[in-house]
Amino acid sequence: MSVPANLTTDVSKQLRALLERAVELGSAITAGAAGVVDDPGSDHDEPQFVADRLTRSVIRPLKQVLEQPDGQPGTLDDAEPAHDDQNHRETAAAGAVAESSAADQQLLGLAQDATQLRALSGVAELQEAAAALQDLTIRQGSDGGEDAAAARRAGFREIMAALPSAIQSERNGPCLVTDAENVVDWLGYALPSAPQMALCRCGQSKLKPLCDGTHAEIGFSAEKDPKRVEDRQDTYVGQQVTILDNRGTCQHSGFCTDRLATAFRAGKEPFVRPSGGRMDEIIRAVRDSLRGTVVRD
Ligand code: FES
Repeated sequence: MSVPANLTTDVSKQLRALLERAVELGSAITAGAAGVVDDPGSDHDEPQFVADRLTRSVIRPLKQVLEQPDGQPGTLDDAEPAHDDQNHRETAAAGAVAESSAADQQLLGLAQDATQLRALSGVAELQEAAAALQDLTIRQGSDGGEDAAAARRAGFREIMAALPSAIQSERNGPCLVTDAENVVDWLGYALPSAPQMALCRCGQSKLKPLCDGTHAEIGFSAEKDPKRVEDRQDTYVGQQVTILDNRGTCQHSGFCTDRLATAFRAGKEPFVRPSGGRMDEIIRAVRDSLRGTVVRD
């Protein structure tokens, strides 16, 4: 059996084992044989939701990385520091809440093993799969109350405790966020977080801000659209602040023009007037423009 060039033999073997377990569990859930409990009060713990998520965000990326002959597309550097303390996993498992359904237990075990492997390897597709598994099991844990979900979250965090905080982009895929405790939306409200997250970058996920695998189905490309204006940085020098503006990378969210119309003037030339606001107002408007989902360490 061939091993993709970006993986060690051992990581490749463990990825295959995870993939096989995910496929088996997905099939069992789809067949209704694994006993996932359908909670009519929840949108996201139906068996079909779990099976679909496994297919789109766990099985697909794991297959993708294992089928790459040269480890090029979609992967990141596999040279993150190793975190090989088996005790972390055992402690985390002990901290997890007892579960009633066999499928939930299998899902939890799969998520713990994927997280354990993620702690050893920074392969992008593995991060994506671990993020989906953590999210699924934390959602299911929340059926037992907030404490149960928090215990699962803490268990995953402990497994990944040796990894540094990081944000990376999977090629033509989500933003992969490691070890962010506070994640807020564009209004500053806290969002549920997990130690490994995959945030939608294609804009088409139905689980925003989380990636749900849609990017792979729509052939999302992170390359710049050739129809967009070319990069050109304009410099506007003010007394307190110099503003740099690049129409070629602006996402046209409208935050700057909405929040500080005296400095960022829609439809007027020059568009930027650095004397149109106090320095703190300008800085806030620019920061807000960059916000979608914001991750704070
Ligand atoms: S990046 Fe995955 S669904 Fe958008």
